[in-house]
Amino acid sequence: MELRVSSRRLFRPLLALLLIGSAGVYSAAKAQTQPKAPDTMEARVQGCTACHGSHGQGTDNDYFPRLAGKPADYLFNQLQNFREGRRKYPPMNYLVTYLSDDYLHKIATFFSQQRPPYPPPAKPTVSSATLARGQQLVLNGDAGKQIPACAACHGKALTGMEPAIPGLVGLHADYISAQLGAWRSGTRHAIAPDCMHTIATRLSDEDVNAVAAWLSTQQAPQNPVPAPARSLKTPLACGSEPQ
Ligand code: HEC
Ligand code: HEC
Repeated sequence: MELRVSSRRLFRPLLALLLIGSAGVYSAAKAQTQPKAPDTMEARVQGCTACHGSHGQGTDNDYFPRLAGKPADYLFNQLQNFREGRRKYPPMNYLVTYLSDDYLHKIATFFSQQRPPYPPPAKPTVSSATLARGQQLVLNGDAGKQIPACAACHGKALTGMEPAIPGLVGLHADYISAQLGAWRSGTRHAIAPDCMHTIATRLSDEDVNAVAAWLSTQQAPQNPVPAPARSLKTPLACGSEPQ
């Protein structure tokens, strides 16, 4: 398994965006002659659903993340991160450039409240030793390398914690490894102190592949709601999750 995402996966979404972009120009031209369409939540998120699914459930594309059920402040922080360049993915950066905090907040709340079913877990494509290493890191960490258990912050059920720690279930392995790679290479940043940067830089390439593989093969729990705020004491300080 390799860490980088293939260019095919990156260009397909760009194509989708071009289609959305031209539809936008078309409707802007139409809007000059016709009464304005009602500003409903469905209308606001229409440009998002091609890539994230109609209820934020994600799509078959390995690189498009699920949004549904992630804590609202987590989603809001990410939309701000894309708008202000702390995360880089051109279609996302472009889409949110001119959107206000208030507008982003409403979109974040909408997706946080969606509860579409999770996709079936991925079939393992790595060795059982790699899966075991992944499980070990997620549930127990690696004290020798000062890596805390992922579950210490993302929750025992890996459904995240309110207000701003996301769940790690229902994500594709390629997406997870790309995000950890982005933190290591400095193209993804969170509010300082950026605990995920610290953690990602302590993981080797093999560790990244192992956690991504193991997480993607886990069945989502029956009740996938995030743990309540402050129910876990995070082992490192995270700027986005005040304690
Ligand atoms: C062309 C496809 C595409 C469209 C359209 C799109 N997204 Fe995304 N979105 C992505 C991809 C791919 C990522 C992951 C990018 C990365 O960080 O590498 C992402 C990431 C996100 C994230 C962060 C998810 C997380 O778990 O960290 C949020 C929130 C988000 N998008 C919301 C939206 C909203 C709201 C819209 C509509 C206004 C939208 N997206 C439209 C492809 C798209
Ligand atoms: C000290 C607490 C903490 C620990 C431990 C931790 N995380 Fe995180 N993680 C966070 C926070 C906070 C965020 C949200 C960062 C942001 O706002 O971008 C996050 C976000 C993520 C994301 C982004 C999810 C998405 O939808 O884009 C991934 C992937 C991730 N963590 C994986 C891991 C893995 C794998 C481990 C264990 C090796 C781990 N985390 C351990 C706090 C933690």
